[in-house]
Amino acid sequence: MKKIQIINGPNLNLLGKREPAVYGSTAFETYLAELRGGYPECEISYYQSNIEGELINKIQETGFDYDGIILNAGAYTHTSIALHDAIKGVNTPVVEVHISNVHAREAFRHVSMISAACRGVILGFGLDSYRLAIESFL
Ligand code: DQA
Repeated sequence: MKKIQIINGPNLNLLGKREPAVYGSTAFETYLAELRGGYPECEISYYQSNIEGELINKIQETGFDYDGIILNAGAYTHTSIALHDAIKGVNTPVVEVHISNVHAREAFRHVSMISAACRGVILGFGLDSYRLAIESFL
């Protein structure tokens, strides 16, 4: 059984309602049920917080015994050196994901403070970005 932790950052609790033209109209919990069904060989845990320090706490908590962390840090992607340091400080590989293609959007989304600390980056495939990240751990 592979242990995978999905961590969603700020405003991602609003998926399904928030800017549906950019992020789609599916709530994350609905998608998560599908994802879990597709990977019975994985134990997929899910955590969301709007608070930067809580995201760091979750990375530290799971970053020594999980097989993989999938992190969508939302807007903290573009600002947080503290998240970069947290990712570097743990043993579990972290894959950065984004629902939208951030490079096709505003210039401030083109920079990621966390990519260099991550094993890889998957972006622009809608919610399917999370499934592709799981595949990367298998
Ligand atoms: C996002 C992209 C970020 O720029 C934005 O702040 C988000 C969501 C994405 O999944 O496309 O909150 O991480």
